[in-house]
Amino acid sequence: MQNNIKQVADQIKSKIGNYQPKIGIILGSGLGGIAEAIDNPVIIPYEDIEGFPHSTVSGHAGRLVVGKLNGIDVLCMQGRVHYYEGHSPAALALVIRSYRALGIETMILTNAAGSLKIDMGPGSLMIISDHINLSGFNPLIGPNDETVGPRFPDMTYAYDRDLRKKLLTVAESESINLRSGVYLMTSGPNFETPAEIRMFKMIGADAVGMSTVSETLCAVHCGMKVVGVSVITNYGAGMVQEKQTHEETLAQADEAGKKLQRIITRFVKEI
Ligand code: HPA
Repeated sequence: MQNNIKQVADQIKSKIGNYQPKIGIILGSGLGGIAEAIDNPVIIPYEDIEGFPHSTVSGHAGRLVVGKLNGIDVLCMQGRVHYYEGHSPAALALVIRSYRALGIETMILTNAAGSLKIDMGPGSLMIISDHINLSGFNPLIGPNDETVGPRFPDMTYAYDRDLRKKLLTVAESESINLRSGVYLMTSGPNFETPAEIRMFKMIGADAVGMSTVSETLCAVHCGMKVVGVSVITNYGAGMVQEKQTHEETLAQADEAGKKLQRIITRFVKEI
């Protein structure tokens, strides 16, 4: 395994005491509530981890929050690092691989996304059944370290079927409507044009965002199970005539974020 992966994992390990998380959670924008629900957290700002990329998205300095969620050890990434911030694909891969080296076996990926389906409006939750990588990059490009994962990883079941079933069952028992759909990643940072949104619908996508796919590729490559959920904050560009008010969108996203928090809090016990 590459030295830098081990170095990053060892630094995190040295800071988290007796916690031995097997579940990693990446929080999308507006989903910080899950990190707040972690008991007795150890908080590690990214800048305290040598070799770790820094988040530059305003509002979140970026930190790992490690502790107990509903009694289960978790590692939570609050403030994700995006390609559009200028990070190299290798830096993005290093983050996920260091979690694997730390002992993480399952990644729960969350994000905020735009809807491509008129009957899946702002405030909806969508479990990711599959993805389309239109980001223009792939973090697995480069010499392959076979001790990390295979050269040509299979992506037929990138989003674990059993975990998806479990997550849907948890949502149902909480009476929360959880849709399933295909997530498409662009590099961002601009939002799409209406013509792009029309194309994404035609090629089979249900939601669009600027993250997650690259993390899934790395996680599956190094042998982790992945489950992903999108919080729908808006319709894709040009889909609706009347302008959503920003306040309404934020309020609905906040509501949906709280529902997702309830689902994930129960789900970590079921994994
Ligand atoms: N497009 C891309 N990313 C997004 C969107 C969108 O409409 N909404 C939230 N993240």
